[in-house]
Amino acid sequence: MSAAQAEWPHLFRPGSVDAPVLLMLHGTGGDEQQISGLAAALDPRAAVLAPRGGVVENGMNRWFRRLSEGVFDTDDVARRADDLAGFLVWAREYYELGDRPLVAVGFSNGANIALALALLRPEMVPRVIAFSGMHPLDGLPVGGSGARVTTSGLAASVLLLLNGDSDPMAPLSSVHRLVSLLEARGATVEQVLRPGGHGIADSDVAAALRWLA
Ligand code: MLT
Repeated sequence: MSAAQAEWPHLFRPGSVDAPVLLMLHGTGGDEQQISGLAAALDPRAAVLAPRGGVVENGMNRWFRRLSEGVFDTDDVARRADDLAGFLVWAREYYELGDRPLVAVGFSNGANIALALALLRPEMVPRVIAFSGMHPLDGLPVGGSGARVTTSGLAASVLLLLNGDSDPMAPLSSVHRLVSLLEARGATVEQVLRPGGHGIADSDVAAALRWLA
């Protein structure tokens, strides 16, 4: 066991052994306690694994550094996604999760790290629900020879993207670039657009419940 992984602040609830594991990823300023409430709404029987983002910006927990609102330090995104993958390997073994299926569920900055993992380490998060997420690696060359970041094929990846159609923090142009990239790599993407901005609307939770079922 790596000491660094064991010391990563997180919440774990075992749930029922025949239920999936929900990897709950909070948004900027959130934490593992706050985001775990959403897990209960999505599947009260599921195991909950909710780590805390390791970056602090003005006292707020985040998953990776940003240069300004919506402009990400993509090197840091890639590095932190890798760290999170290491935590997942550790947690699966430590909590004896065996081959229980895992669904990554993220909101906002948490959705963005879930999507980065889905692009960079798809085997870690085959299913993703992203509430108010956007392209986490926009501008970083992805795939192809000479690329700084290569993504494997995503044929086994299934993603649900839930966005508001007038969200200044997760602009649709970025979401569309992300969907194109995911689909070009073979992922199955369902996109649900609702009127409004950044957040988790009741209709988003209802769509996530349908998708999980
Ligand atoms: C991000 O930084 O990941 C997005 O802009 C959303 C947020 O503000 O957390």
